[in-house]
Amino acid sequence: MIRAENLTVGYELHRERQRLTALRDLSLTVDRGEFVVLVGPSGCGKTTFINAISGLVIPWEGSIEVNDKPVIGPGPDRAMVFQDYALMPWRTVEENIRLPFELQALGINEEEMDDRVRRYIDLVDLGGFEESFPYELSGGMKQRVGIARALVSEPDILLADEPFAAIDAMTREAMQGELERFVAATSQTVVFITHSIDEAITLGDRVVVISYRPGQIKEVVEVDLPRPRFDYDIKTMPEYTELRERVWGLVKDEALQTARGARI
Ligand SMILES: Nc1ncnc2c1ncn2[C@@H]1O[C@H](COP(=O)(O)OP(=O)(O)O)[C@@H](O)[C@H]1O
Ligand SMILES: [Mg+2]
Repeated sequence: MIRAENLTVGYELHRERQRLTALRDLSLTVDRGEFVVLVGPSGCGKTTFINAISGLVIPWEGSIEVNDKPVIGPGPDRAMVFQDYALMPWRTVEENIRLPFELQALGINEEEMDDRVRRYIDLVDLGGFEESFPYELSGGMKQRVGIARALVSEPDILLADEPFAAIDAMTREAMQGELERFVAATSQTVVFITHSIDEAITLGDRVVVISYRPGQIKEVVEVDLPRPRFDYDIKTMPEYTELRERVWGLVKDEALQTARGARI
């Protein structure tokens, strides 16, 4: 479904007259229906990687393909969920969720659009809040709107960039359980970024640990825990603790390097 091969991506820093390599020689394949989580220190290129999948940044070297076609720009087959929700404050919940239909020609009729909006509002449990505005909602509810808006175009791939980072700890755990349910209901392929090792293990089929800049894959950890993980209470399982230690072991040095302020 997604194939990155020897992907190198970076940015031209015009002021500094330098080129910054954000990702170097990264190869990763994501299969249909897989939930892949990216973890790694700030600035290691996680966002750059999902921007390359979504077509917002173009590779310097190597290639990125979605459904066997090179990515040349954004498209309705890939939808994004953002940390800051990116809702339009002047639009109601329903109008926010309807937005993708106005931005992209999906080739579906009015009736199908209404049907989808209703279905995804139900899926994310926002029935009764259709006419509410974002300022009237909690963080968790705002992100449900963000998720419904992403799912409404029925994308092949859901890209989520730290979607729960701004949500309080208790709601966050509940949202992880909910996301797992939405994903199971739609057989969605997901690439998800987080700083939380617990979140990565709770959600991922595989956890991809990315090293400090320029970002490269340090290791890919398979998470072989039963689903739905939320119901199984996986945190009490010894396998969970082992996985947690393993991922932390991989991330620790990278995080320390970042905390000590390693520069370009
Ligand atoms: N638009 C941009 N212009 C210049 N540099 C950027 C831009 N976006 C990201 N970077 C730099 O690229 C590196 C990787 O950034 P990013 O992909 O956002 O990392 P992460 O999401 O892992 O924190 C960082 O050093 C960041 O400063
Ligand atoms: Mg980022």
